[in-house]
Order: sequence, then structure tokens, then C-alpha cells
Amino acid sequence: MKEIKANNYSIFFKDKGYIELYNHIQSENYSTIFIHLDNNTNIHCLKVFLKQIQTFDYQTIVSKSGEENKNINSSVIIWEKLSNNNGDRKSLIINLGGGVVGDIGGFVASTFKRGINYINIPTTLLSMVDASIGGKTGIDLGFLKNQVGTFYDPKMVLIDPLYLDTLNESELISGYAEIFKHSLICDLIFFNKLISQQNSIDFKNLKTIKSSIEIKNKIVLKDRKELKERKALNFGHTLGHAIESLFLENNKRLLHGEAIGIGIVLEAFISNKIFDFPIDKLTKIKNHILKIFNRVDFTKSEIDNIIKLLIHDKKNTHGKVNFILLKDIGQPIYDIEVENNLILESFNYYSN
Ligand SMILES: NC(=O)c1ccc[n+]([C@@H]2O[C@H](COP(=O)([O-])OP(=O)(O)OC[C@H]3O[C@@H](n4cnc5c(N)ncnc54)[C@H](O)[C@@H]3O)[C@@H](O)[C@H]2O)c1
Repeated sequence: MKEIKANNYSIFFKDKGYIELYNHIQSENYSTIFIHLDNNTNIHCLKVFLKQIQTFDYQTIVSKSGEENKNINSSVIIWEKLSNNNGDRKSLIINLGGGVVGDIGGFVASTFKRGINYINIPTTLLSMVDASIGGKTGIDLGFLKNQVGTFYDPKMVLIDPLYLDTLNESELISGYAEIFKHSLICDLIFFNKLISQQNSIDFKNLKTIKSSIEIKNKIVLKDRKELKERKALNFGHTLGHAIESLFLENNKRLLHGEAIGIGIVLEAFISNKIFDFPIDKLTKIKNHILKIFNRVDFTKSEIDNIIKLLIHDKKNTHGKVNFILLKDIGQPIYDIEVENNLILESFNYYSN
């Protein structure tokens, strides 16, 4: 499978990726190579990786898994490990893990000795189609996500769906929400292909993964720093993130993808009301999301709280909540303010 050209790096697939990675390691003459993992990918993914690639010298750095560890403490531990184990400006970090490993590892790489090389080998569906692509690195500040970070591209990205074999089912399905979102903001043919999957959806399909990466990459190439086009990637995320935050606060479990799935339905409904987004496509979106994720019940007070939480959205400027809406599939509209009663209506639509 042919690679995808990104900003200053390439995204390789399967066997060719391991050859390219090995050649890169040989040609760059790195002083030390650190494979950054979390406690789960250390068990499940390191052995798979080592089986695929020719032998080279490396040390491992294992972070604690989970969003709650995507913070400055984990970064300090990695900086110290690098520093205490001969890390220097010619060191390389290979992030072998999900979005959390990639985001922290990329952040650490961008700051250690004012910037060293890193490579992403994503091991979750979400990190394959989204987090590993586009050069955003970062950590959370308390409960606020991605408050500290950098734009710093990897030297390459290697995609191999083999890693998905050990990922639990719910994490796998969760990542699919971003694939579906990519189709909505960019590509009617891809959208039709996704919704035509009748009974079982092949979440590990490499062609689907590649199409999804191509969309994200195309958008990032147009607008790396999220001044305009890249904002489209936030479709479904304004309400999706607020829903995610509410569940976090209430200690109720909801996967990121589930929250984004609901956000997609709500924001497609609002798009229909404000910009006449076609009703037949809105119905198809709702049906597809509800085929994948169980419907979640919301009380009136939960919806009120979700609306209050919108105030923390990263796209807000000058105290306004800015939505990304769709005029049609592939036609995003940026920075739209939405009345609260329309948000309430959108929850009614989702619930019935
Ligand atoms: N930088 C970006 O542009 C960007 C984009 C989207 C999301 N993100 C970030 O990505 C993060 C979410 O990433 P995620 O969904 O990959 O979560 P994650 O990294 O927490 O991984 C999910 C869980 O799966 C485990 N795991 C990972 N790969 C595995 C495998 N192959 N087998 C078994 N277990 C495995 C992990 O240890 C973890 O427990 C969030 O912090 C989000 O902010 C970043």
C-alpha cells in the first residue's frame, strides 16, 4: 500500500513501514532510541513490533496508561528517563501506543533539548485515524484537556492494523466515530460507503483506515495551525466534549467515541435547522450512529449542565461558543453561534 505524504513526513502502512523505519534508524545514526509505551502496549504491542522489524538497540520508557496520566507528571518522568539514560539531541523517541502515548511522547520530544525526533506507531483505531496524524502534541491541565502542547511533526508514522487485535472491542468501536466524522466533513462517496455497511462493520479495514487518514491529512496540509479548515475536524466535538465532561464529572462511564457520536447527531440536526442540511442524510447519520452505539438517556438538568459546559470549548473566542456546522456532506461552515433552545431541540431529536 502506497504511503501518504504529510507535511514533512510520510505515513507508511504495514510491511513497507517497518522497512522504512529500519532504514530511517540506520541512516540517521541516532545516539539512543527510546520506545515509549504505556503499561498495556508494553504487554501487547512491543512483542508484535519487535517481530516485524530487524533488530536494533533501544531502551523502553513505560508510562502509566489512561487520560488521567496525560499530564505534566508523566512528562517529567519521561524527561528524567531520557536525561538519566544518555538522551541527547540525537536521540529518537518511538511512540508505540494510543493517543495518550503519542500526545505525551510527542510533547516530550518537542521540548527535550529543545526538540528531538519522534515517530508515531499508533495502536488504537482512534490514534491511527486521528491522534497520530497532524503534529499536535499535548498534555492536560487538571480536568482541562490539551491545555499545554505544541505543533511538532513526527519524522514518520507507521500504521499497522495488526495492533488492533489486542484492543478491546469498545475502544475499537469508539475510534470509528472519528472515521465517520471524517466522511461527513469531506467526502460523500466515503460517507455512502460507510453507511452501506449493513450488518457488521469491519472496524479494522485498512482501506477504510487509509481513506480516513487521507482526509485528516488533506485538511491539516491546508491549515496546520487550525486557523480555518482544520476547525472542521471539530464537527460533533463541541457538544461531544461537553457530554464527555459531564459524564466525567458525574463518574458515569462513556467512551470518547460514544460522546462524539451523539455530538455528531446533535450538530447534524442543528445544521439542518440553520443551514438546511439535507434531512435524508440527517436520518442516515442518526441511524448509523445508533446502529453502532446504544442510545444514551439525558435528563433535562443534564442537558442544562452540558450547555453550561460549552463555555470551556477550545474553539471559543471572546466568550462566544463557536460551532462547526454542515451545509451538506463535505461543506463545513465555521464559527457559528447556536441558540440554547436549538440545542435542547437537538437532544429531543436524538432521544426520539
Ligand atoms: N494529537 C491529536 O491530534 C489528537 C487527536 C485526537 C485525539 N487525541 C488524544 O488521543 C487520546 C485518546 O487516544 P486513544 O483513544 O488512543 O486512548 P489511549 O491512548 O488512552 O488508549 C486507550 C486504551 O487502550 C490501551 N491500548 C492501546 N493500544 C492497545 C492495543 N493495541 N492493545 C491493547 N490495549 C491497547 C491503552 O493502554 C489505553 O488503556 C486523548 O488524550 C485525545 O486527546 C489527540
